[in-house]
Amino acid sequence: MSNLPKVGIVGVGTIAEALTHGLCAFGERRAEILLSPRNEAITSRLALRYPDVSIAADNQAVVDASEIVILAVRPQIAEEVLKALHFRPDQKIVSLIATFSVQRLSTLVSPAKDISRAIPLPPIADRQGPLTLYTQSDEIAHLLDGLGRLIRVEEETNLELASAATSLMGTYFGMMGAVDHWLIQGGFKPESSRAFVAELFFILAQAAEKRSEESFATLTRDYSTPGGLNEQAWRELQAAGWGTQVQSALDLILDRIYGRATLDTRLSQNRSTSN
Ligand SMILES: NC(=O)c1ccc[n+]([C@@H]2O[C@H](COP(=O)([O-])OP(=O)(O)OC[C@H]3O[C@@H](n4cnc5c(N)ncnc54)[C@H](OP(=O)(O)O)[C@@H]3O)[C@@H](O)[C@H]2O)c1
Repeated sequence: MSNLPKVGIVGVGTIAEALTHGLCAFGERRAEILLSPRNEAITSRLALRYPDVSIAADNQAVVDASEIVILAVRPQIAEEVLKALHFRPDQKIVSLIATFSVQRLSTLVSPAKDISRAIPLPPIADRQGPLTLYTQSDEIAHLLDGLGRLIRVEEETNLELASAATSLMGTYFGMMGAVDHWLIQGGFKPESSRAFVAELFFILAQAAEKRSEESFATLTRDYSTPGGLNEQAWRELQAAGWGTQVQSALDLILDRIYGRATLDTRLSQNRSTSN
């Protein structure tokens, strides 16, 4: 018997697979991991690869054997799946289900009370990317720390804003794609254009990370010679409403996830605490 924490995962799809890779990466032994039996292709792949991973007979067996239960089913079936399970008061719950609040979960996992929420992204498989975590538990923070960059937030609403902001991943690639397309139309070879665009955006993201003490406005200024091309491009895009359009799109995403009734309250709460 090991002293590793016993972690169960209910719902083993894309994100739970990535999380399991992240937990077991670099040969590190962070937890004994018990997976619910669906989806067989993913669960058997993980159990074959990692000695600390095994597959339970059913969802209840996962819950029964675990100190920490990670919930990674889709929102559409979450209520039905969770209502069928019996939890214990001493268990810690970590929900990855973006749309379920702690309040909503608390009735579904009762009598378990220690509920955390996390938003991992697929690069967690390689221990990369932001991992937003809302928790009262240092044990949970410790379990997930280092699987990418842990962003531990103190307000649940912060996690909800982060979940809306992850909807910009497609936009990021869309912008890269637009630049790529424009370069190729101008005569660039596709492979050269792709390498150029990927390297340019990569190095800019690195600058934002390395100079994290400085505002984005400062970076914009530093990368824009007065009267030069960067200054002009940003001025043109701002005049077209580009900056505020991003925020308006995020407001719509938040509205879609949480509903108009709660949107204004959540936004005003967050904006007043940040002022
Ligand atoms: N994907 C992401 O980047 C991401 C990021 C953050 C949070 N999340 C959240 O994580 C959750 C899962 O997302 P996902 O993208 O990983 O979805 P997914 O790939 O569809 O995975 C869900 C898994 O749940 C399994 N499942 C279905 N019914 C089940 C049941 N009754 N009991 C146990 N497992 C069952 C499915 O198995 P079958 O394949 O056999 O149907 C599937 O493998 C969602 O709530 C999502 O909001 C996802």
